[in-house]
Amino acid sequence: MNKFVIKLIPGDGIGVDVINEAVRVLKALEQKHGGIAFDFQNLEWSCQYYLKTGHMMPDDGMKILADCDAILLGAVGFPGVPDHVSLRQLLLPIRVGFDQYVNLRPVKLLPGLSSPIKNEKIDFVVIRENSEGEYCGKGEIRNENTPDETVIQDAVFTRKGTERIIRYAFEYAVRHGQNKVMSATKSNALNYSMVFWDKVFQEIAAQYPKMEAAKMHIDALSGYFIMHPDRLQVVVASNLFGDILTDLGSAMLGSIGISPSANLNPEGQYPSMFEPIHGSAPDIAGKGIANPVGTLWAAAMMLDHLKLTAEADILMQAVTDVLSAGKVRTPDIGGTSTTSEVTDAVIAALR
Ligand code: NAD
Ligand code: IPM
Ligand code: MN
Repeated sequence: MNKFVIKLIPGDGIGVDVINEAVRVLKALEQKHGGIAFDFQNLEWSCQYYLKTGHMMPDDGMKILADCDAILLGAVGFPGVPDHVSLRQLLLPIRVGFDQYVNLRPVKLLPGLSSPIKNEKIDFVVIRENSEGEYCGKGEIRNENTPDETVIQDAVFTRKGTERIIRYAFEYAVRHGQNKVMSATKSNALNYSMVFWDKVFQEIAAQYPKMEAAKMHIDALSGYFIMHPDRLQVVVASNLFGDILTDLGSAMLGSIGISPSANLNPEGQYPSMFEPIHGSAPDIAGKGIANPVGTLWAAAMMLDHLKLTAEADILMQAVTDVLSAGKVRTPDIGGTSTTSEVTDAVIAALR
């Protein structure tokens, strides 16, 4: 028996719903296919937990998490706790603390779904730097609440951090038989960080002479996503640019409820974490209509990471079978079904 400890952080709002659904599907997969066993361990860390304890996770939270094969997270953040407090005490410290420096986000139009844009040849990945950059959390407030108030938000780009994410993008392209890597930049305005980013990109690109390496300023690249998605294969971006580009990417797939995200520590020194890219959606929380597809896709990425490739394929096949049949889908993609009706259909479609 192949056993896996999976730590669950459902978090807030619809995060709780979608994690429940992912666990139901994974348990069904376990029953159907034998040979694997998941030990799901639920952690109640959330904004509610914060309101009770004053912390988003206990002091030894990282130690509690360290001992698992993977982390599955729903969403963190809810009105009542400032977003920068909830996210800076839970999601972001996990990404940084476990050196999950790759945030892999596929932008792929699944069979059965249609895009709001005309060009439906959409199948690429965004490789987002996930440990530093604009998210370093450093800064300063001077002369607070005076007419001279000045706020500085730093961005930190190290050679180690920049090289490893760009190299990962090229290696990803090689592994997947692709021949193009696109770098998101803004070196016309960001005269330190992005000039450095471009320099490193050029250095690494020179080591992959067969790869077509190009860069575009983030503003132009955003337009390119909409106009020519068929020309993209692997996009590498800094933390903030990758964040924004992937919400755009998920909109291109029809809904933010579709897209998954893998926070990877490629060396396997620490656990990796899998989550949908969406947030806690306070506007629909408690209504039972959250699209579970992004989380199910993230769960499939987790199975892949655990080398359960066949199981990952079975799960994604079931999801695309349900989407292709077109009958059971949540309102964000034009249906009338509830979250659990979609999951029931996916479970029924597992082969
Ligand atoms: P959001 O993704 O929660 O919601 C944006 C819009 O998309 C809303 O209209 C919402 O109803 C809709 N939506 C999101 N997920 C959906 C799904 N699965 N099915 C159907 N519709 C869906 O983004 P936001 O409103 O900017 O953020 C809300 C909270 O979530 C904030 O506290 C934010 O900081 C947090 N957040 C957390 C994560 C995370 O934990 N990874 C990611 C993004 C935002
Ligand atoms: C995401 C989210 C987070 C991010 C927020 C909640 C801090 O938007 O995972 O895309 O910006 O990374
Ligand atoms: Mn985001």
